Amino acid sequence: EKSSNVQARPPVVTIMGHVDHGKTSLLDKIRSSKVASGEAGGITQHIGAYHVQTDQGVITFLDTPGHAAFTAMRSRGAKATDIVVLVVAADDGMMPQTAEAIDHARAAGTPIIVAINKMDKDSADPDRVLNELTTKEVVPEEWGGDTPVVKVSALTGQGIDELLEVINLQAEVMELEVATDGAAQGVVIESRLEKGRGAVVSLLVKQGTLNQGDLVLAGEYYGRVRAMTNENGQKITSAGPSIPVEILGLPDTPAAGSEFMVVSDEKRAREVAEYRADR
Ligand code: GTP
Ligand code: NA
Ligand code: MG
Repeated sequence: EKSSNVQARPPVVTIMGHVDHGKTSLLDKIRSSKVASGEAGGITQHIGAYHVQTDQGVITFLDTPGHAAFTAMRSRGAKATDIVVLVVAADDGMMPQTAEAIDHARAAGTPIIVAINKMDKDSADPDRVLNELTTKEVVPEEWGGDTPVVKVSALTGQGIDELLEVINLQAEVMELEVATDGAAQGVVIESRLEKGRGAVVSLLVKQGTLNQGDLVLAGEYYGRVRAMTNENGQKITSAGPSIPVEILGLPDTPAAGSEFMVVSDEKRAREVAEYRADR
């Protein structure tokens, strides 16, 4: 049966780029929250997920690590997303993970917006960055190409409003729509085991609405959602499309990038879970 309740949904934007080019700093600035100590200049180990309210609507952001070891995660990130924001440090230029992020976005058919970061630095050379990008056939709009480029500084906040505007414009063109009713489906962002809580699993709902008490099948595991929190750690009982949530209730940690769905029937959940575990 076709869903009756189709609505516009917020864009999911993945921040990608070379290590230390400022992905997490940019996200932190966008969220206007304090940089978590230990993260600034540190290593992003997993994908963080956040949504922010802008003047033109909600945008959901996924952060990814720039390290060479995280190729698979970037590949999954590019697939879970509507738009890639490619962060390139103005003082460092195109680097191996910059090129790799471009390849992932292309492979997934995801539009790219370039954010040239660290514009506050004396050594910033944005024209050099643009020249380097054209060698990968990423041609800025101002040079007659189709890639929006925004010059930003995660340190000073320069260009952040413009970046959000450009994201919203791109999202508008894409006319993102989704069914808000019906069983929830989506993707596992990350998962971890916590003492006393069990598996803590971050999900991005892509369709439908996820409710506390739902029977969730994620990767090869299934269980009832015992508790849900938003990205700020606040308790919630439901989450609609493009909204990241953390859930408790799965018996183990499904791999990042696994698909999840809500199922009505425990027998069916067990069958699919066993089938997946055998592969
Ligand atoms: P990984 O997750 O490890 O790949 O790094 P990242 O891309 O998330 O970079 P991160 O935000 O950790 O920033 C790396 C370093 O660059 C930190 O020391 C930041 O303070 C610094 N930095 C980030 N953005 C800016 C900026 O706009 N200007 C200046 N001057 N420094 C910045
Ligand atoms: Na870093
Ligand atoms: Mg980071």
